[in-house]
Amino acid sequence: MIYTFYRQHIFPHLLNQVMQTPSLMDKRRELLLPVSGEVLEIGFGTGLNLPFYQQVNTLYALEPNPDIYHLAAQRVHETPFEVQHIQARAEKLPFADQSLDHIVSTWTLCSIANLELALNEVYRVLKAGGTLHLVEHVLHNDNRTIQRLQNLLTPIQKRAADGCHLNRNIERAIINAGLELEECRYFDAAGIPAIGQRMLLARAVKR
Ligand SMILES: C[S@@+](CC[C@H](N)C(=O)[O-])C[C@H]1O[C@@H](n2cnc3c(N)ncnc32)[C@H](O)[C@@H]1O
Repeated sequence: MIYTFYRQHIFPHLLNQVMQTPSLMDKRRELLLPVSGEVLEIGFGTGLNLPFYQQVNTLYALEPNPDIYHLAAQRVHETPFEVQHIQARAEKLPFADQSLDHIVSTWTLCSIANLELALNEVYRVLKAGGTLHLVEHVLHNDNRTIQRLQNLLTPIQKRAADGCHLNRNIERAIINAGLELEECRYFDAAGIPAIGQRMLLARAVKR
């Protein structure tokens, strides 16, 4: 009961705050600048990407958790383009095959329960030439100590942060799904604890 209260009433506010860390907001701007037209965002969260979309007409805001989406209300209201909430999971996208040019994921692939299924769905709904734009925290491949800690603490992190894995190799998962990495850059985000600091900013294309 306490855990349910935490998940519904405390965690969404914590998420909304942490995800506004300035270094993360800078990366949102960089990632979203070239995204245009009709766009699907998976794991929309509290709508923190909205101010950074410059050329979008319609945004499909896929967010399964109503307690989290609730905190996006004001931002959605202030957005000059159409935002359609889709309450669904990325493992079963309610879109036709080859129907989208752009899909966005910002710090969502860590939380999806079945990542392989979700990336297969992303591949299915992207048009040929379509792009998955993503920025995610990832398994630290260059530091064995941090990697061990990430593996050790992921079970606790999953409980505390609504399914978030600290130890996912996102680059590998994307390649396994058949997408081709057009841009792939690792960096350490300022203001984030070392265990979740290693990030990947990438654009992956369906050929
Ligand atoms: C760490 S938050 C990131 C939120 C937002 N993308 C951002 O950049 O602030 C992860 C988000 O993924 C969502 N999520 C979890 N499982 C999901 C799934 N299976 N499909 C789609 N979204 C999911 C969560 O509800 C949450 O909003």
